[in-house]
This record gives sequence, C-alpha cells and structure tokens, in this order.
Amino acid sequence: MFRLGTETAFEAADRARALEATGRDVIHLEIGEPDFETPSNIVDAAKRALDAGWTHYPPAPGLPQLRSAIAADSTARRGVPVTAEQVLVMPGAKAVMFYAILALAQEGDEVIYPDPGFPIYESMTRFVGATAVPLPIRQENRFSLDPDELASLITSRTRMIILNSPANPTGGVLTRDDLQRIADVAIEHDLIILADEIYARIVYRGEHVSITSLPGMPERTIVLDGFSKTYAMTGWRMGYAIVPERLVVPFGRLIINSVSGTSAHQQMAAVEALMGPQDAVDAMLAEFRARRDLIVEGLNTIPGVRCLLPDGAFYVFPDISGTGLTGPQAADRLLNQAGVSVLSGTAFGQVGANHLRISYANSRERISAALERMRPVLEPLLV
Ligand SMILES: Cc1ncc(COP(=O)(O)O)c(C=O)c1O
Repeated sequence: MFRLGTETAFEAADRARALEATGRDVIHLEIGEPDFETPSNIVDAAKRALDAGWTHYPPAPGLPQLRSAIAADSTARRGVPVTAEQVLVMPGAKAVMFYAILALAQEGDEVIYPDPGFPIYESMTRFVGATAVPLPIRQENRFSLDPDELASLITSRTRMIILNSPANPTGGVLTRDDLQRIADVAIEHDLIILADEIYARIVYRGEHVSITSLPGMPERTIVLDGFSKTYAMTGWRMGYAIVPERLVVPFGRLIINSVSGTSAHQQMAAVEALMGPQDAVDAMLAEFRARRDLIVEGLNTIPGVRCLLPDGAFYVFPDISGTGLTGPQAADRLLNQAGVSVLSGTAFGQVGANHLRISYANSRERISAALERMRPVLEPLLV
C-alpha cells in the first residue's frame, strides 16, 4: 500500500474549503471538472430510467444499448470501426487506467508515462510493482512530447506507453505526425498504448486525432474516454474503455471481481448523452474558449509568468520561474494571501516544479477577480 500514490487535487480542494469555512472568500481554480450542470436532457433520461425500473444488476461489461451507442460515437469521431463488444462501461474513466495497468503491467515491466501527467498513471504503475518511466513534457515543445526522446526510453522491458491528449495538466494536444511516430515505435517494439482521451471533445484548434485510428494500432490500443468532462457528469462516475478483442474477457472479469458493473439507470442516461442533442457540449466549449483566452492574456501580463495558449482541455500550466517562486511556494501563497486556489505543477510530476496548474472551469467574473488577486502576490517578489 505504501507504493500507492494519490491525486493531490482532492487535498488542495479540501484545504481551500477549510479556508472558506473560516469565512474567507476563495476562488476555486484547482478543480478538474466543468462548473456547468449536467444538461437537463441527460438528467431527465436518468429519472425516466429509474421510473421505468432500471434498478437491477446490469450486464458486467455494460448495457447493450450503451455499448452500441459508444461504439457508434467512437467510430464516427475516431474514424476507425469499433464494435459494441469492444466497449466496456465502467464507473468513471479512472477505472480504465486502474484495470489496464493492473491487467497488463507487473514486476519487471516498464511503463512510460507523461511527466507532468495525471498522477494516477505513476501511482498505479508503482502499485502493481512495475517501473514507472517518466517522459518529460516541456513548455519549449508546446507541451507535446518528443518522439525521439520517447524512443530513447524504450528498453526490452517496456510494456506500455501512456498518452494523454488533450492533456491534463498542460492542455497540450498531440499532432497526427507525433502520433504516427509514437505508433511506429509501439509497433516496432510490440507495445501497448493506453490512450487517455477523456478531453477529446474539448479541442480549440484543429481536430482531435486518436492514435487508435492509425494503421496497426487498434489491436494494441486501449482507449480511455467517458462522460465526466464532455457532459459535465463528474459526479455520475461514468466512463468506458475501448479495447482490442483479446482484452474484452479479462477486462470483464476485472469488472465482475470488483464492482459488478455500472449503475443501470445512469447507463440509460449516458445513451441519451451520446444520442441526444449536443448543443450543450458546443456551448460549454465556446465558453471554455473565452475563458482560456481571458486567463492566458491576464497571466501573461504578470511579470515573471509565461503562459502558452493551450489547444485543448480546460487547464493552463504557466511557467512561473521568473517570479522567483517555486510551484509549491506560489500555490501556497496564492491560497493563503490571495484566496486563490490553484495547484502546484509538482502535483503532476517533477518536470512541473516551476509551474502552476490552473483550471479555468470557473466563471469569467471569478477568473478576472482571481487574476487581480494573483498579481500582487506574484509581482513584488521580482528582484
Ligand atoms: C487525464 C484524466 N484522465 C482521466 C480522468 C478521470 O475521469 P473520470 O472522472 O471519468 O474518472 C481525469 C479526471 O480528472 C483526467 O484528468
């Protein structure tokens, strides 16, 4: 159990709430979830499903209706055919990374993961006794990864590469060229890819490309996706995996051995999410774009802060080394002196030591207020 890590975002949110409980006004920019409500057509579908008696054990891999809807949605969005059998519905997309790493990595294996990256990749890899090998993701490289550097990390023990595009915490998006080079490496060394595409629908420039759409990749790629971010459904805990056929039975067994399945009435609501109107998703994206522009422009007027305009997700990952503060120091002062809750880049790996992770899943008014409060805390430290 000592090898199991955690997600410090939850702890930071607790600290912010504790400060709030003392009467302080805190602006929450640490949270990795849309601030919008779940669209009402989805909520209504869940209520209807309850009334209609969707209250019993569902099949472990998911309801056929939902698996078919996910397969159709994925086939259309990723441009590569997916069958309903390849889809496994899970309580949250996070379960996909848990099961994938548990099923496929063990002592003696190496798993390459992005640093900075979602902390659970490293935590789970260590937990199963495998070696977690960080792949640095740098601002100089527009938060893409360097395929040559990736190739240099491959050994005879490498088993899996974890990708996340669009990325948490950087907002970076991998291009088709980058993905093709990663695919070449994966095929040459017979590796599995865990493609975390939970932010696939939150892209501001160009299109989202899935590595599974490249030749030779569907048989070695596990796609992780879900409803949390796209449909503002974080509290519902609804995610899914798209896996090569040979992994359907083992993954199904993991589900049977752990949670038995995913809430039946929620699965019926998830069918509505995919098949119903998508205008709420479009509206969220437009609002996120406006917030992104606002926060990037504001941060870049603070001396010592350098912030890229990210192409996806709803985070910025500014370099604050010019302020003379480290990420943990800045996050601490921003909370205690300014009442602005952000995360230190170190919550996502060592490469993020001079960065903050700021979520712009908050209103434009609150983002503007946060920028005003942040400036005096970061500015006077310049020497
Ligand atoms: C990169 C990434 N993958 C997966 C998840 C987990 O999604 P879910 O809430 O569906 O478990 C998150 C949530 O923050 C995330 O940022």
